[in-house]
Amino acid sequence: MSAVHCAGHWSLSRHRYGHRRELAHRGHNVTLVARREELLQSLADEISAKHGVTADVIACDLADAADRAKLIEKVHRNGRHVDVLVNSAGFATGGRYVSSDADREVEQVRVLVEAPVALTSAFLPGMVERHQGAILNVASTAGLQPMPWSTGYSAAKAHTVAFSQALSAEVRREGITVTALCPGPVKTDFWEVAGDQPIEKAMPRLLWRSPAAVAKYGIKSLDRGHRLAVPGLAVRLLTFGGSLTPTGVKLAMFERSMRP
Ligand SMILES: NC(=O)c1ccc[n+]([C@@H]2O[C@H](COP(=O)([O-])OP(=O)(O)OC[C@H]3O[C@@H](n4cnc5c(N)ncnc54)[C@H](OP(=O)(O)O)[C@@H]3O)[C@@H](O)[C@H]2O)c1
Repeated sequence: MSAVHCAGHWSLSRHRYGHRRELAHRGHNVTLVARREELLQSLADEISAKHGVTADVIACDLADAADRAKLIEKVHRNGRHVDVLVNSAGFATGGRYVSSDADREVEQVRVLVEAPVALTSAFLPGMVERHQGAILNVASTAGLQPMPWSTGYSAAKAHTVAFSQALSAEVRREGITVTALCPGPVKTDFWEVAGDQPIEKAMPRLLWRSPAAVAKYGIKSLDRGHRLAVPGLAVRLLTFGGSLTPTGVKLAMFERSMRP
């Protein structure tokens, strides 16, 4: 069994656990993908030593279509049958959309939308042929409703949620599961990369989850074939409340609470 984990160093630097460790722990050989090769290699060495699995490293800028094509070719050349695909790489823009960096907004769509779509198209046919496989797409609670001041990010994550759910219904009978993992806030480098985001301060402590807990929940949900997985009881309750609230009311609440 092989798993391709597309970035989301949900553990790489300071964080001690992640999807990759969870997958390796279950005996999957893993292919680790992100841009910073050195960090990936040290994680791969640690995973192989600890779990006795093969951990390949492929440096790739997932925003770049040519780089993605090379990634897909390398995975095939390495002779890996991908049974689990984890699309986790990401970052967030935020703030007033009209003043945001146009190139960064487009890059966000490339990494959060284009890359998971391209990789799914590349690896799903093999899963269908073998009648087994699982795809874990890391979305966000931000994808469960439109969020002013996080316009581009919440829209990209809404794509992930809709794409995962629709696809899961298409391939369910072929023994393949597709899960959209929708975490609330998690303490990772994500917040440093995003810069000063008012939403970070607006989030009560109760909602924050550790990377380890989120990774564990994600893999458990993948095992169970859940279409949608929201880690943390408090976040789940909020999400449920949100689903009962009219969109206009939610927009007004987010616009006010997240205004920079
Ligand atoms: N942290 C949160 O509060 C939170 C909440 C909900 C959802 N999420 C989602 O969780 C996922 C993982 O984020 P995280 O919290 O683990 O953030 P993180 O610690 O900043 O990790 C993001 C990862 O994405 C990789 N990446 C970014 N751009 C890339 C690119 N162009 N090509 C290849 N890899 C790229 C980065 O690796 P390189 O820089 O080496 O490429 C990094 O390892 C993201 O999709 C994020 O939207 C996070």
